[in-house]
Amino acid sequence: MLGMIQCVLALSLSFSLKYANAHPSASPSNTYDYVIVGGGTAGLTVGDRLSESGEFTVLVIEYGDLLPEGFVQGQTTYNITSAPVTDLNNRTFSVDIGCIVGGSSAVNGRIFQRGSAADYNIWGELGGVKSTTWNWNNLLGYFKKGVQLTPPKPEIPAAFNVTYDTQYWGRNTSNHSIFATFGNTLRPTVFPMYQAIKQIPGMNLPADGGAGEIGMMYAMTSTDPWTGARSYSRTGHWDGLNRKNYELITSTRVKKIIFERGRAVGVEVSHRFGQENLRVIKAKKEVILAAGAIHTPQILQLSGIGPADLLRRAKIPMVVDLPGVGSNFQDHTFVPDVTFRLNSPLPVPPALLEAANAIIPDNLGVTSLGVAAGLPVISPSRFASIAKDFESQPASKYLPKNTHPTIVAGYQQQKRLYAREMRSLGLSFLRIAVTTALSGNDSSIVSWQPVNIHPLSRGTVLIDPSNPEAEPIVNYRAASNPLDFTLYVESLYFLSKLMATVNATEISPGPNVTDLTAWLRGKTIPSVYHPVGTAPKMPREWGGVVDEKLRVYGVKGLRVVDASIMPTLVGATTSMSVYAIAEKAADLIKGKLRA
Ligand SMILES: Cc1cc2nc3c(=O)[nH]c(=O)nc-3n(C[C@H](O)[C@H](O)[C@H](O)COP(=O)(O)OP(=O)(O)OC[C@H]3O[C@@H](n4cnc5c(N)ncnc54)[C@H](O)[C@@H]3O)c2cc1C
Ligand SMILES: *[C@@H]1O[C@H](CO)[C@@H](O)[C@H](O)[C@H]1NC(C)=O
Ligand SMILES: *[C@@H]1O[C@H](CO)[C@@H](O)[C@H](O)[C@H]1NC(C)=O
Ligand SMILES: *[C@@H]1O[C@H](CO)[C@@H](O)[C@H](O)[C@H]1NC(C)=O
Ligand SMILES: *[C@@H]1O[C@H](CO)[C@@H](O)[C@H](O)[C@H]1NC(C)=O
Ligand SMILES: *[C@@H]1O[C@H](CO)[C@@H](O)[C@H](O)[C@H]1NC(C)=O
Ligand SMILES: *[C@@H]1O[C@H](CO)[C@@H](O)[C@H](O)[C@H]1NC(C)=O
Ligand SMILES: *[C@@H]1O[C@H](CO)[C@@H](O)[C@H](O)[C@H]1NC(C)=O
Ligand SMILES: *[C@@H]1O[C@H](CO)[C@@H](O)[C@H](O)[C@H]1NC(C)=O
Repeated sequence: MLGMIQCVLALSLSFSLKYANAHPSASPSNTYDYVIVGGGTAGLTVGDRLSESGEFTVLVIEYGDLLPEGFVQGQTTYNITSAPVTDLNNRTFSVDIGCIVGGSSAVNGRIFQRGSAADYNIWGELGGVKSTTWNWNNLLGYFKKGVQLTPPKPEIPAAFNVTYDTQYWGRNTSNHSIFATFGNTLRPTVFPMYQAIKQIPGMNLPADGGAGEIGMMYAMTSTDPWTGARSYSRTGHWDGLNRKNYELITSTRVKKIIFERGRAVGVEVSHRFGQENLRVIKAKKEVILAAGAIHTPQILQLSGIGPADLLRRAKIPMVVDLPGVGSNFQDHTFVPDVTFRLNSPLPVPPALLEAANAIIPDNLGVTSLGVAAGLPVISPSRFASIAKDFESQPASKYLPKNTHPTIVAGYQQQKRLYAREMRSLGLSFLRIAVTTALSGNDSSIVSWQPVNIHPLSRGTVLIDPSNPEAEPIVNYRAASNPLDFTLYVESLYFLSKLMATVNATEISPGPNVTDLTAWLRGKTIPSVYHPVGTAPKMPREWGGVVDEKLRVYGVKGLRVVDASIMPTLVGATTSMSVYAIAEKAADLIKGKLRA
């Protein structure tokens, strides 16, 4: 069937990589303790942790292939086109996510960041229980376990003020890890922008980008400090481990989860391109869904866990009526083209220019400067009224028609917390990368790509009832809540004010654009490839899909461990948070941590 999921794999190559315990041609045994669906970012991390004691057998099942290092990026992602985005002039977009061992961590942009403490504390508050371990303090331990720091090189000129604090990071203990690495390349023009941004009232300068604060800070990349290669879930949690009890099969599609008397007992798999090798693999302890925020809800729905009316229309026998599966979908959005012309060059002190140019590149990449700004900093005059407007919206107003009341109740909670944070300096509502802005060829042009880092709109990821086996319908619904445009408009004013301080003139949108919202409708991109939230960790009565221990409501033996469980987006790129979730989940599964 043409509708069948297919990665875009233009070349037909045959791979004969030798991986101990990997079975590319699939002849795994029939039963494992844990069966993990998806060998992506979270899947391999949790697989490593569950197999490390040697006590349990673990099988990871991955749809993509083990592809060699440096394989062309565009050929390792799924071929999915979004539904038309109504409020962005009905434009459709490519839904890029990794289709390869390592998942999206194998194809991502490697910008490695954390959200702020408020991001993770909100996850706790959205648990709706008195005591929760989903908060900054507890997750910090898992960030430290999951990610090791490579500090900036001493030759970077002090004027750049690249600071870090080891208390927020893991130490070098093993090469089987995920590395957060500072490159020693810094563009000198970052310096004057740093100076200008520092002057913005309320701008915070955290001593470390992982300290849980918002403000102006440098970000690392997920790069192996020894080789300069991508550090990702495959290099950190699969390659070289060679454990007899930790296996991986590739090119294999998990079609659905098998239940017996309300318990997940295994999965039905087939070859990725068809119906060959259709078989069932059993899980003695648990099935762990780690197929990412687009495919985890799809697999749940195909297995009979989802909104009852959808399952009925798709003729899928219902196991649990769980309306939240595939709702609460969020992704960061961005505006690609906010451009200024400098009337005079940015003032880089000649000595600094010389020092920066003298650094010998170490192939570890560019250390990027970023700003995460709170709403009172973006819009000192309007933040309170925007918070009030958001607060007073009826929760159902901008959700899809006939949204289930439990989902509306969950959004009401999110609305309450976001409105609170709009008045604080704990959560960011704009993220900009300074390095990107200054990397063009024409040194008089500065182009920004402001990111709506905590969007208010919510989308859906639902199977197509008329073709359930096809890729799910990905409906971003970006800017369906018009306040998302209001936030952008304030961000545009903010950037204009900032650039005026360095003697620059706005070119785009520029003085000729009188209707900024109309301009934004035509420009905004609804994804920076950070899909989350489609199987959220929230109470069932708030539209949640998993509980505080990441167990799917209504069945036994089934958890979700991936970006889908985030109830709300973090104010950062997402992969580092996914690693922390997976590290924490492993302890929850092993019973080492009470949720
Ligand atoms: C192009 C791109 C750029 C990005 N840039 C950055 C960045 O710069 N910094 C950052 O931190 N984050 C970035 N991200 C986001 C980040 O990588 C993801 O949020 C994170 O990796 C998601 O992890 P996950 O475990 O939830 O899903 P994934 O890592 O996507 O893993 C899901 C896995 O499940 C497999 N799967 C799906 N369905 C099935 C099935 N039916 N049977 C078997 N297997 C299945 C998939 O093939 C995939 O390998 C980017 C992502 C992309 C795609
Ligand atoms: C991607 O999907 C579209 C529509 O589903 C199809 O027309 C196209 O051929 C696919 N491309 C590849 C490379 O598989
Ligand atoms: C988008 O599509 C919808 C449904 O087809 C239509 O009603 C609407 O007018 C379209 N909007 C634009 C801007 O084209
Ligand atoms: C990790 O190892 C690298 C390479 O030896 C070293 O430069 C760095 O200082 C170490 N990091 C920490 C936090 O000790
Ligand atoms: C990691 O690998 C590098 C290069 O292969 C090696 O020099 C280094 O000693 C290793 N570090 C540890 C802690 O094993
Ligand atoms: C450098 O950063 C620290 C904290 O990260 C801040 O206290 C200090 O003011 C900064 N220095 C300069 C020169 O910007
Ligand atoms: C701004 O640029 C103009 C045009 O180059 C120049 O005349 C003016 O002196 C500059 N102003 C400042 C404050 O740098
Ligand atoms: C920038 O310069 C490089 C090298 O000269 C060139 O290859 C590239 O096309 C240029 N990009 C743009 C946007 O002009
Ligand atoms: C604005 O429009 C005028 C008249 O069409 C044109 O001359 C000018 O170049 C435009 N300015 C910008 C910044 O696009």
